[in-house]
Amino acid sequence: MRKFLQKQNLDYPDFQGWVLQTMDELTLQIKLSYVALKKSQMVGAIVFQRHFEIEWLLEIKNVFVKEKHRNHGLGRILFALAECAAKTNGLKGAVYDCPEKNRRLHDFVYYECNFRNFCIRLPLYKKDKSDIVLVKFFCNERLDSYKEQINTIFQNKYGKLI
Ligand SMILES: CC(C)(COP(=O)(O)OP(=O)(O)OC[C@H]1O[C@@H](n2cnc3c(N)ncnc32)[C@H](O)[C@@H]1OP(=O)(O)O)[C@@H](O)C(=O)NCCC(=O)NCCS
Repeated sequence: MRKFLQKQNLDYPDFQGWVLQTMDELTLQIKLSYVALKKSQMVGAIVFQRHFEIEWLLEIKNVFVKEKHRNHGLGRILFALAECAAKTNGLKGAVYDCPEKNRRLHDFVYYECNFRNFCIRLPLYKKDKSDIVLVKFFCNERLDSYKEQINTIFQNKYGKLI
């Protein structure tokens, strides 16, 4: 997993630190993952955790399918597995922060996984680093109260709702 994450070489301020922390949190089961294997080689993975502030919300932290293995449905299966684990544990929805400039990833999460744009997380470090926060609810009951709860927390944190 460490090598798989490292190869993504993401544009994070401290990418190596992020990889090490993710590995520690996976070991401690703070974060969980599903991986896609082909001939014992990792070709895709999704990493997720329960949201720290909203206990009924799943937070998807990272999803990646190796280029050669894309467009065969793996990405959707990984999202569906994470969603299924969340539902089994009684969670009511999921959130995913997508870099605004990564249109391809955004469209995949929006159109293929049926998440909806929720708010813009403004850049902490560089001007062009804003994220679109996408949310998906798993049920219709108490939807208004769930929306209100994430509105309050996300608005305090990020400021600008879509
Ligand atoms: C986004 C991502 C996870 C999608 O993974 P994927 O395995 O290609 O996803 P899927 O195959 O389920 O779906 C993708 C597309 O393939 C199509 N597709 C799904 N199953 C298919 C199949 N069996 N045959 C042909 N096409 C298929 C889907 O309709 C979709 O089409 P689209 O072009 O309209 O979006 C992948 O592109 C990726 O890893 N991107 C980089 C992500 C990244 O930057 N992560 C780091 C930050 S978290």
